[in-house]
Amino acid sequence: MSETVLLVGGGGREHAIARALADGDATLYACAGNRNPGIASIAEGFETLETTDPSAVVAYAEDVDATLAVVGPEGPLAAGVADALDDAGIYAFGPNEAQARIETDKAYQRRFMRDHDVPGCPEFETFDDVEAACEYIDAADGDLAVKPAGLTGGKGVRVIGDQVTAEEAKTYLRDADYDRVVLEERLVGEEFTVQAFVANGDLRVTPAVQDHKRAYEGDEGPNTGGMGSYSDADSALPFMTDDDYEAALNVLEATVDALDGYKGVLYGQFMLTADGVKVVEFNARLGDPEAMNTLPVLDTDFLDVLVAAREGESLPDLSFAPNATVCKYAVPEGYPTDPEAGAKVEITEENAGDALLFYASVDQREDGIYTTTSRAFAVVGVADTVTDAEAIAEDALAVAGEEGLDVRHDIGKPDLVQRRIDHVADLRSR
Ligand code: AMP
Ligand code: GLY
Repeated sequence: MSETVLLVGGGGREHAIARALADGDATLYACAGNRNPGIASIAEGFETLETTDPSAVVAYAEDVDATLAVVGPEGPLAAGVADALDDAGIYAFGPNEAQARIETDKAYQRRFMRDHDVPGCPEFETFDDVEAACEYIDAADGDLAVKPAGLTGGKGVRVIGDQVTAEEAKTYLRDADYDRVVLEERLVGEEFTVQAFVANGDLRVTPAVQDHKRAYEGDEGPNTGGMGSYSDADSALPFMTDDDYEAALNVLEATVDALDGYKGVLYGQFMLTADGVKVVEFNARLGDPEAMNTLPVLDTDFLDVLVAAREGESLPDLSFAPNATVCKYAVPEGYPTDPEAGAKVEITEENAGDALLFYASVDQREDGIYTTTSRAFAVVGVADTVTDAEAIAEDALAVAGEEGLDVRHDIGKPDLVQRRIDHVADLRSR
């Protein structure tokens, strides 16, 4: 049977999903709040709609006779879009609203880990009273991470001793007026991501990726949705051992067992610390940018994963090309605090050379494509080594030019990768 897949979401991650599906023989339709020209050029149809409105998404899915759906971002999952599609008889690869709480409610996420003995859980407390949280900060022995319980696009966390002082953290909480916050032990180490496809009690993992959340080179500046990321030719990253990767898999397996009936992607954000692998958070979807590292090296047809998931079958084993990848986002100048929109995007799929080009948030006008105030596009190099992949990404960025754009050129460069290796070696030697 031929499949018609509705893709929900219009970012770089969804462009990567669209390309993974277009490589197979699915008929693809997409809907998003923004028109993504990359997705639109691959899909049979592209509808601009409010993706957090379940009835709007279902109406479009029915309109195009979708037989499957993939929900890319967390917003629609939190709004119950997967539930609504499932209820309409269109299998959604993505958790229902209740199961997406593993991402959308950080207090639930930590309690879930504690209640189910999932390994790697830091010490934590949850608060619905700001003053009680401030007292806890005052009384704490070591540094804490301050996390609003709800979704903040990766921008709500403040780490004491890293980004803020204890006093600043308290001011932040008092000013921000969050309903609930989690305070937890500050984890020190190197972060990495492992994403897994999950359905029917099965879990299939993908290679580790390291994202770079800080806006500026050298890991300075405010947190962003992610400025770029790299993966190595095998499953672990250069600063990790195979045992570290296995430890992350054990966490994901324990989580999937405890979640009972979860479907979609389970994304683990880990910190490799002196005490081993700890969980920073879970997400209920592929990472953005991490999807752009993972899907281009996935040799297995992504559609086969979706169909097996829907049919209640065991998921196919995944095979990956033995390649490293480096992904770099180009963002509007001033991002994320003071982004200046309206720069013309000069790079195209035709002039990107050996790199893959993924569009994110751009504005397609009659005379070309322009930046908005969010991440604009990403280039991805795929090669035998991280260094070679990085060079491919940089060649494409040279074509794109620098006018009105910021890029973290340090991502994937030998210096920064070596700093990660040295950091972990230093932690382990203490
Ligand atoms: P999250 O929204 O939970 O992904 O947090 C955003 C970023 O804050 C993470 O990628 C980490 O860099 C940082 N972070 C979150 N929790 C902790 C923690 N317990 N210790 C240190 N850093 C953290
Ligand atoms: N790369 C971080 C995220 O997708 O949440």
